[in-house]
Amino acid sequence: MKAPRIQASIRKTGVVRFGVVGVGFMGLNHCNGIRSVAGARLSAVCDGDAARAGRVAAKFKVAPFASHKDLIRSGACDAVCIATPHPLHPGPAVDCMNAGLHVITEKPLSECVSTAERMIRAAEKNRVAFAVMFQRRFEPAMLKAVEIARSGALGRIRRTLMVAPEYRSQAYYDSGKWRATWKGEGGGVMINQAPHVMDLFILLGGMPCEVYGRTETRMHKIEVEDLAEAMLKYPGGGTGYFHCSTCEPAPGQMIEIFGDKGKLVFRDGALKLFRYDPPVNVHNRINREPGTLAAPRLIEQKIRVEQRETDHAQVIENMTLHLLKGVPLLSAGATGLASLELANAVTLSSHLGRPVKIPISRRMYDRFLADRRKTASGA
Ligand SMILES: NC(=O)c1ccc[n+]([C@@H]2O[C@H](COP(=O)([O-])OP(=O)(O)OC[C@H]3O[C@@H](n4cnc5c(N)ncnc54)[C@H](O)[C@@H]3O)[C@@H](O)[C@H]2O)c1
Repeated sequence: MKAPRIQASIRKTGVVRFGVVGVGFMGLNHCNGIRSVAGARLSAVCDGDAARAGRVAAKFKVAPFASHKDLIRSGACDAVCIATPHPLHPGPAVDCMNAGLHVITEKPLSECVSTAERMIRAAEKNRVAFAVMFQRRFEPAMLKAVEIARSGALGRIRRTLMVAPEYRSQAYYDSGKWRATWKGEGGGVMINQAPHVMDLFILLGGMPCEVYGRTETRMHKIEVEDLAEAMLKYPGGGTGYFHCSTCEPAPGQMIEIFGDKGKLVFRDGALKLFRYDPPVNVHNRINREPGTLAAPRLIEQKIRVEQRETDHAQVIENMTLHLLKGVPLLSAGATGLASLELANAVTLSSHLGRPVKIPISRRMYDRFLADRRKTASGA
């Protein structure tokens, strides 16, 4: 990815002027987030609901727009933060990118990989900076976990596990017409509630090359899945298991990565690292003890994790520093494709009733989604 083209106004003022597109629950949060970041300024808001745009604009004393195209034309922004329902991320994002604006989009990039790839291509073509709101990547425990996983300390990865209990009540689903519908959201728990954990899971364990998935609508009156599970295969020969649902409350959010040299366990925010001495593959070869309990010595490694709070504003701060000082993006837009690809693959596999290879066929998934939308009754 080439360095972004930085607008003259940013160079001149040392300030990035942000607009927020979609000022509902998350967009409002981002308005406050932008105002908390040094070098960032909230300069406009946009919402399809013009009255809402007006109210929020009055609160923050910025310009209101009822369409992202008017926001672009106004010249009020150098960058935008998009917080519309997910199927409405790509349209505004690509238009903003074509106009030379930098973009942070909410997660997931989109509801399907084909349109997400349009965003990635538009960012590259227009040389604008592009980030996805995966704020959990900034958590100190996660930064440490990624450092450990990438250092090779775990050896060859043999097994992974992800469990994500992401409970939501029926009242949550009933709070917005677009929620949990094929047309409005384009998917269920894997598209809306679990993408953060799925993203971290892939960062730590790598991307599977095949999934055998099963989705279900178990507890809620909704069109899309509230439970998904899958068996995974990895290019290196490892296997994994994945489960997420909005039927089960916390605790128990868990990621485990097991390799020949050790095991990384991330449970409800706490990180543990165990080392095997000797590595399991070596122990298996050299052990001569016939006893059934013979196993490599297990050593828990002390991990020091910085104690500090993180939130969505860190993604905005990272983008601001990227534009002002060339600091690398920690949640670059293109890296948001992996968790979406996994979600789409599990959905497609469940629909076909057989394992599917990753990357999935874009054409097949688009057709599946179009068929769902044709027959669905929701918004
Ligand atoms: N990163 C996180 O932790 C996190 C948390 C919650 C939601 N989200 C994401 O944020 C996005 C929005 O979710 P929400 O809960 O804020 O929804 P919401 O319904 O509260 O807000 C969406 C807003 O977008 C507006 N909108 C719809 N179409 C528009 C258009 N074409 N142009 C401009 N505005 C338009 C709506 O009027 C509404 O105000 C979703 O993609 C969701 O996945 C992320």
